[in-house]
Amino acid sequence: MPYAHITGWGMAVPEPVLTNDDLAKIVETSDEWIRDRTGIRERRIARENEFPSTLGVEASIQALKVANLRPTDLDLIICTSSSPEYFFPATACLIQDQLGATKAGAFDLLAACTGFIFATNMAAQAIRSGSIKNVLVVGTETLSRFVDWKDRNTCILFGDGAGAFVLQASDQPGGVLSAVMHSDGSGGDSLSLPAGGARLPATEATIHEGKHFIHMDGKEVFRFATRVMGRAATEALELAGMTTEDIQWIIPHQANYRIIETAAKYLKMPLDKFIINVDRYGNTSTASIPIATVEAAQKGQLKPGDKVVFVGFGAGLTWGALTAQWTGPLPVKRHVHPEQYRWFARVRSFFRRIIRIIEGIFFRREL
Ligand code: COA
Repeated sequence: MPYAHITGWGMAVPEPVLTNDDLAKIVETSDEWIRDRTGIRERRIARENEFPSTLGVEASIQALKVANLRPTDLDLIICTSSSPEYFFPATACLIQDQLGATKAGAFDLLAACTGFIFATNMAAQAIRSGSIKNVLVVGTETLSRFVDWKDRNTCILFGDGAGAFVLQASDQPGGVLSAVMHSDGSGGDSLSLPAGGARLPATEATIHEGKHFIHMDGKEVFRFATRVMGRAATEALELAGMTTEDIQWIIPHQANYRIIETAAKYLKMPLDKFIINVDRYGNTSTASIPIATVEAAQKGQLKPGDKVVFVGFGAGLTWGALTAQWTGPLPVKRHVHPEQYRWFARVRSFFRRIIRIIEGIFFRREL
């Protein structure tokens, strides 16, 4: 049975920075309050021309570069987002098209902020089954578009960004070692985006009542998160036959510094074993774990051979953890430039649209 190795990683964040002081000009809050309660100092906000797909593509190109893979080498793209570009088509399909990953199947997976753990596990399982070799997993968000900028309970928390992993099959032991996935739909109300779906389609009233924004019972989510995080990490470790002694790093979902602190206490681990960057990006939902991972890899904290636990929680409610032995790129001779495919992809996409229009005209004539 092949092993599923994480061989590429990339991230993209928008340039514009929104500080706590900037927020204090919009809602009744302060830098001190936000830092004390969440650990967040600033977050990135997407420009008008930035979307989950464009940020996702940037992160993916980096990840493909690290893995030394061409977009056309990909068999599968799984995108996970709490702020997808559309209901459908899937953001994964937009990324597939923009990358020029012509041989890849692509779909979205929705598990809110736990999405990246669920998606990475699904990618690893597909590789372990032997049916595919190369998978791209993308977590990407422009949550700023779903935040009520008048609601100080939520608008201080979220930020935009994207992160991506490439997973590849190899006979060498290592890579993803274990994973646990949990859900409890009975808690769905505590964090939701109430309108826009089939239950509450968009109307003037839903817009007027602010139901297209994120709604959250902060205290309830805090209680849930502190309850499940340490437990999920322990479960995944046990499944891999490891203890906290065996691992070099924990990479948690970056929602709130205090939640991470509680998990550290539960696991009896020092906080310096946790990769934390919530202060600079806020909660980027599905992108938070890969962004933290990429920064740790780029700084040289995360090294090949290190054992690591990824752990997250989110709306649904969902939570989960995944253990992995960090690999790094598999040895290959060629050097590829995945960004060059972007131009081919644009031209190809344009011509495919024209062909579909022409086909449509002829098809109608035949009828
Ligand atoms: N600035 C200043 N005051 C604020 C505020 C803000 N941004 N947001 C809320 N407050 C006020 C509240 O209105 C409340 O005032 P009141 O006592 O007069 O009613 C007071 O601060 C305390 O609010 P409370 O909700 O008890 O604060 P808290 O300590 O629970 O912290 C959160 C609030 C949101 C930071 C915290 O509950 C949290 O992080 N929850 C988890 C959220 C999360 O991670 N969501 C994403 C999951 S993926």
